[in-house]
Amino acid sequence: MDSEATALAARIAKAERLTILTGAGVSAASGVPTFRGPEGLWRQYRPEDLATPQAFARDPLLVWEWYAWRRERLAACRPNRAHDVIAAWSQRSGCRVITQNVDDLHLRAGTRSLIRIHGSIWELSCWQSCAAQGGTPWRDETIRFESLPPRCPSCGGMARPAVVWFGESLRGEDLRAALDATSCDLFLAVGTSAVVYPAAGLVHDARRRGAFTVEINLEATPSSGDVDLAVLGAAEDVLPRVASLMSAAE
Ligand code: APR
Repeated sequence: MDSEATALAARIAKAERLTILTGAGVSAASGVPTFRGPEGLWRQYRPEDLATPQAFARDPLLVWEWYAWRRERLAACRPNRAHDVIAAWSQRSGCRVITQNVDDLHLRAGTRSLIRIHGSIWELSCWQSCAAQGGTPWRDETIRFESLPPRCPSCGGMARPAVVWFGESLRGEDLRAALDATSCDLFLAVGTSAVVYPAAGLVHDARRRGAFTVEINLEATPSSGDVDLAVLGAAEDVLPRVASLMSAAE
């Protein structure tokens, strides 16, 4: 890992436009379960039962019980060293961070230029998209709701988690911002299994646009053979190592 970390440190130091894409692996060290890992959420639950608009229409209470359980767990989680390094790098001009994570740990770590393409578990929106609220999400960090499902403050109808479910499109502005961020010198994909689109396509877009592409993951992914540098390791170990090599070189 060290020669790769040294090479990566040199590349990040000279990059003018750095884009970082993150997935559940970046939050693993904070105690947030990934989706497809050994203890992954999708090992215990069927996404089609809980993370689709059809599932919500069928049984909103079941879906809300699951999201309430996840919020309660997340409330006890703190950003880890990987979040902190990414937050520090995001202060640089020309750096953009795209996350698939809905846990907002990047936000809590102080990350700037953050594009949350799958929304936030701490935001709700009106299930009916009522005239007053439309699709605009509102923030609600209630740990334990008095009753489920929570209600839209405008129409009193059911509220839903403002996350992007399977079968739903990303918000236009988020997708545009993410695609725009693939125009960069250096693209890092950290802690993502690279199987869910459109996020999994971004590294290929960046490569087509001439970026040097890097993957940091505990294991190989379907993109490992396509990137310029694949670093096998934990994000919470590799990123601080690279950051310390960068400061040593300054
Ligand atoms: N450091 C680096 N990588 C890690 C770590 C770690 N500490 N722990 C796990 N990983 C890697 C795993 O090897 C795996 O490749 O992170 C990846 C996590 O993959 P997923 O669980 O599939 O999560 P993600 O890629 O973010 O999923 C994408 O799918 O379920 C939907 O909407 C959900 O945003 C999510 C999307």
